Amino acid sequence: MPNPFVVAQPVPAERFVGRTSEIEAAFDQIFNRSHLAIWGGPRMGKSSFLEKLASPLVWEERGEDPSNAVIVLFSCESINPFTASGFWQEILSIMRDNLDSEPELQTDIETILSGGQTTKDSLRQVLRKLGKKGKFLVLLVDDYDAALRENEQYTQTDMEAFLSECRNLAYHCQERKYLSMIVTSLKRLNELGPPLSPSKSPWYNHYLFQSLKPFTEAEVERLLGILYTPELQEIIRKLQEAIREIAGGHPALLQTAGFFLYRELRDSQEQAPDAQAFARKFESDTRQIFQNIWERCSEVEQTLLMLMALVRLQGRLHKRHYDLSDIDRILSQKERDLTNLEEQGVITRQVKNGKTEYSFTSSIMERWVIQELGNSDEPLLKKRQKVFLNLMSHEQADKVANAIRWLWKHKNEVPSTLEWFGKVSAALPKGAIQSLFNWMSGE
Ligand SMILES: Nc1ncnc2c1ncn2[C@@H]1O[C@H](COP(=O)(O)OP(=O)(O)O)[C@@H](O)[C@H]1O
Ligand SMILES: [Mg+2]
Repeated sequence: MPNPFVVAQPVPAERFVGRTSEIEAAFDQIFNRSHLAIWGGPRMGKSSFLEKLASPLVWEERGEDPSNAVIVLFSCESINPFTASGFWQEILSIMRDNLDSEPELQTDIETILSGGQTTKDSLRQVLRKLGKKGKFLVLLVDDYDAALRENEQYTQTDMEAFLSECRNLAYHCQERKYLSMIVTSLKRLNELGPPLSPSKSPWYNHYLFQSLKPFTEAEVERLLGILYTPELQEIIRKLQEAIREIAGGHPALLQTAGFFLYRELRDSQEQAPDAQAFARKFESDTRQIFQNIWERCSEVEQTLLMLMALVRLQGRLHKRHYDLSDIDRILSQKERDLTNLEEQGVITRQVKNGKTEYSFTSSIMERWVIQELGNSDEPLLKKRQKVFLNLMSHEQADKVANAIRWLWKHKNEVPSTLEWFGKVSAALPKGAIQSLFNWMSGE
């Protein structure tokens, strides 16, 4: 059986898991010819979501006829550097390629494209014709962030003009009846793009907002359900639990963990699979994701993560080496930043006995933060201390700095990768392996 887990690319529509209410919301917008802005952290499933909407399968499942919809899907990152005319041109070229059923329109688009400079009005013209044929355009625009950052060929003024054209097309002009636009970005649109002008309504006001959050318990279960077989229920259940602990509800982490675990099991044949090898591969393959998440966090968010990781590390050590007992209070004052981190899928909130507790969604992200701290030095710490002082007293800041210094000197006391993956190795007792292997090789 080929590895059923998908890594390093958007999931194909038939492997897409969950997100039911988000898909509903998208179709509601499509059928009202309205617009939707999806946002979610790195690798949270934005591209997969758009791919799913673009699949005729989903339309048919819902009893809709996809043949009247002209679906155009592309990433703003493919227009490099991003410019408004590049954007309009990309839409028209993809439309031309997808309109084999309308050769006349295809010729019209070809004429526009060969005439050079394409504008919003070129698209308007095409939309009008599309409308006459009883069709409409579903515009699926991935990585819209690229349209909301300046580059050497795209100034702040260009950006303002572009966004106002988009708003005009989607909201004001007649041809809006033939258009539904869905964009994705890493952050909510109101946190990106140019500052608002008091005389105009915000450029993003015509979008309904919808975030992609980490998977719910049920979605995680569905995804890991690939690893299910009645005879091996018990081992599989343990493995699922182990995956959940290291990956949390993060779709890409879950798939990566599933992928390597599957491979380790399949290749290990008669011996116990190598839990250490699994742990190493998982860590090195997900480093980029963590790096990405980390770099996108604000300084305050990074500091909160460091504090959380240090407090938790203390719990993992055999002895108490530093004192961070009053950190909880600091966390509780940073509700908004914590909510941000929660939405990004980095941390999880749980209410226990009336008390809110935060923990890392993925134990490997937690380990990653510890490593990041372990690799810092005195000058970096000095810089961080400025942020600490915005969050806590001098005395507390010193305690935190001392905890970090302790870490530098005692890296070897930090539990090993394998200990961190404790559940995985515990879930893979030798005797169980042969039967798992047989199942995987289809016997
Ligand atoms: N709905 C989903 N079902 C199953 N796997 C998913 C889903 N969404 C995301 N994934 C997993 O997460 C990874 C990253 O998804 P992607 O759509 O590329 O994220 P983004 O565009 O937000 O960076 C994919 O390779 C896939 O393994
Ligand atoms: Mg993407």
